[in-house]
Amino acid sequence: MGAELGQYSRSGRSAPCPVTHRPSEGSRRRHGTVPLLEAGDIILMEEFRVQDTTRRCKELREKGVLFVGSGVSGGEEGARYGPSLMPGGDKEAWPHIKKIFQSVAAKVNTGEPCCDWVGEEGAGHFVKMVHNGIEYGDMQLICEAYHLMKDILGMEHDEMATVFGEWNKTELDSFLIEITANILKFRDSDGKHLLPKIKDSAGQKGTGKWTAISALEYGVPVTLIGEAVFARCLSSLKDERVQASKRLDGPKMTQFSGNKKAFLEDIRKALYASKIISYAQGFMLLRQAAKEFGWTINYGGIALMWRGGCIIRSAFLGKIKDAFDRNPDLQNLLLDDFFKKAVEDCQDSWRRVISTGVQIGIPMPCFTTALSFYDGYRHEMLPANLIQAQRDYFGAHTYELLWKPGEFIHTNWTGHGGNVSSSSYNA
Ligand code: 6PG
Repeated sequence: MGAELGQYSRSGRSAPCPVTHRPSEGSRRRHGTVPLLEAGDIILMEEFRVQDTTRRCKELREKGVLFVGSGVSGGEEGARYGPSLMPGGDKEAWPHIKKIFQSVAAKVNTGEPCCDWVGEEGAGHFVKMVHNGIEYGDMQLICEAYHLMKDILGMEHDEMATVFGEWNKTELDSFLIEITANILKFRDSDGKHLLPKIKDSAGQKGTGKWTAISALEYGVPVTLIGEAVFARCLSSLKDERVQASKRLDGPKMTQFSGNKKAFLEDIRKALYASKIISYAQGFMLLRQAAKEFGWTINYGGIALMWRGGCIIRSAFLGKIKDAFDRNPDLQNLLLDDFFKKAVEDCQDSWRRVISTGVQIGIPMPCFTTALSFYDGYRHEMLPANLIQAQRDYFGAHTYELLWKPGEFIHTNWTGHGGNVSSSSYNA
């Protein structure tokens, strides 16, 4: 999609033409857009860093100018037929731009637009950033399924295309599954499949990385997006991997001896369960950001905005919308009855795929991290008590007893460490 959406005048004065390129920060300062604006003007801007949107919102508010930062997703098709729009910023602007935004946006089958007010300040851009992180996760999950089909089941491209086409009629119905089927069957001008000729080194513009950085910053375990970013980084070490492939041995077992049809269904279910985890993690990050910045975020509205027009559009997002309609304060998607049952129904398949893939030596960073998250999240007791004891042992960092939360104590574990504890703070 384009860069800035341009400016819109509330007062009815002719608005300056939409800017079609993104000027550098230096050029913005030199040419100074702000002095040309009057109180009541509205600035609309697409995809920028959340911190910049929040700062601009605050600075312009003082001048009476309303700033809206809108996420835009949909690629080339979205640009022509309607994207998903995720506006946030100064809410006073929303009644003035709502009609334009919602008429431009893609619509779902019911006719509802894939655009609604997201929240204050940089909320629109934050939501778009998380959208992109989820996009990285979805793409990597599909790649892992493709890898398993290709290297464990030895499937040909047309056969894989048929399977992805079939999967697109199930819970996995989505734009990314649909284009994967099309990509798999695509043939080059020489009549051969194009996909195996493409260098296996993934690029990235950085929004997935920003999501992972935010997750670390706010302490939210968005493990699947993190792994998806690292999987791209590992893929880009092509020369190093070529060298390593000649030196490092894998497992002895490289042949699959099970039932191919059953294993394919297992892969489909592993992909579905992992996808649920990814979205649950993405919404955990949105919830935490809302807390950090004091935003009121419309979670069901976000699921609807992503339901059509954008790259992660899928039938599945309708189910997320339903979950937030049932309970707008839903703490975690996994606790919604529909998603709880969906994951439980998939888990035997999911575990079988991961154990088979691990035994044969196929990398599945996102399938595996999703399952580890699920197992970690559903455990009342994790081994972090030992981490606390170790920290206290070597650094007097203190720990809490299970029955005395909030009271931090230190133990003199060795008898010669003394009883002085370090100050207690958390990063
Ligand atoms: C969208 C896309 C769009 C772009 C990605 C590609 O929603 O329309 O997400 O924003 O295609 O930025 O990102 P990478 O280059 O990082 O894969």
